[in-house]
Amino acid sequence: MPNGSPQTPTPLDGALDPNLPRIGILTSGGDCPGLNAVIRAATKASYWLGYQMIGFRDGFEGLIDPIRYHVLTPASTSGILILGGTILGSTNKGRFGARQGVSGRAEIDPQIIERVRETFELLRLEGLIVVGGDGSLSTALQFHEAGLPVVGVPKTIDNDLSCTAYTFGFNSAVLCCSDALDRLHTTAASHGRVMVLEVMGRHTGWIAVHGGIAGGGDVILIPEIPWTFENIVAKIDERTRLGRNFTLVVVAEGAKLPGGKMVAKSAEAGSLQAKLGGIGQIVTAELEERIDQDVRCVVLGHLQRGGGPTTFDRVLSSKYGAHAVRLIVEKKFGQMVCLDPPDIKDASISEAVGSLRTVDPHGSDVLAARAMGICFGDTPGYVNPFDSH
Ligand code: F6P
Repeated sequence: MPNGSPQTPTPLDGALDPNLPRIGILTSGGDCPGLNAVIRAATKASYWLGYQMIGFRDGFEGLIDPIRYHVLTPASTSGILILGGTILGSTNKGRFGARQGVSGRAEIDPQIIERVRETFELLRLEGLIVVGGDGSLSTALQFHEAGLPVVGVPKTIDNDLSCTAYTFGFNSAVLCCSDALDRLHTTAASHGRVMVLEVMGRHTGWIAVHGGIAGGGDVILIPEIPWTFENIVAKIDERTRLGRNFTLVVVAEGAKLPGGKMVAKSAEAGSLQAKLGGIGQIVTAELEERIDQDVRCVVLGHLQRGGGPTTFDRVLSSKYGAHAVRLIVEKKFGQMVCLDPPDIKDASISEAVGSLRTVDPHGSDVLAARAMGICFGDTPGYVNPFDSH
């Protein structure tokens, strides 16, 4: 907590140029592929526009007590385009807290905001780029409301931020999921087994739906569509009747059990901050009881967050980083870059946080999946998805 002592900036390398205007950047919350590509693009774009880029360490934490930063240059960010994680570090803990806009936001201590303001003044920052998901952008919004010049870049593998068609990192997570399904496919077919793959997605089923379609999943269970074990078993039986001796089940970690309960590792299951995980095992155990076939479970976990970005994410992250600098130069503070295909645009951070973008059960993704016979656990067999009117 702030103690009234003067802030001491700690340059971790390089030196500030007193003659150049400055832009700051930080990466906050859970990491995801493409963070370094955003940092690199923003650094390059600001360099060519005559700005110096300051990269703060460990999310918002590096902004205060003690201030910790790197002076970023095209040379110091060279080679990081393809690198997973973030060279600046990140955290979803600490003095700025992990916030979930959807739960009603937690206010940051006004003294902390004042310390941040001092940092802006001390380092003469013209603007700060906050790369984060719903919680981190809620913090950025509070900075903006306090008059600090911030802009946002939408980040999360879950792809659940409003106002943008895609967040960066999502495509890389989907590749990880479909790659896992490709591998599970061959072993499942060889042994005539049911394979249950648990993927990330706290509140939404984007990874499960896209990964499931891309990897040939047969059953996809997501938070947006209530499902039953009976319907999954009916799908497995249907496949058996059709001569398919194996089934791939993809389940989002946030999919609710029949009855509406979420499965969490920690006691705070009802809380939006709860550590999710375990539904894959529950689905596996329940299916084992109900069918005469081997069932195995794989939890993909943080493999989805680690590693380098796909080419799609490299391009998207680069566009986001460059456009975030443009927002600062044009003084469009309180805005977040977003993808409105095929264009990169911007939307107000206040609009983007607070309500999540969920999978539409009647949207084209689910419709196409149903048309291919993929089961969402809500019907006992195929139902023509184009025939609902
Ligand atoms: O929000 C992204 C996400 O990947 C969720 O899908 C997952 O529940 C969460 O992060 C896990 O975060 P951590 O293990 O870092 O607390």
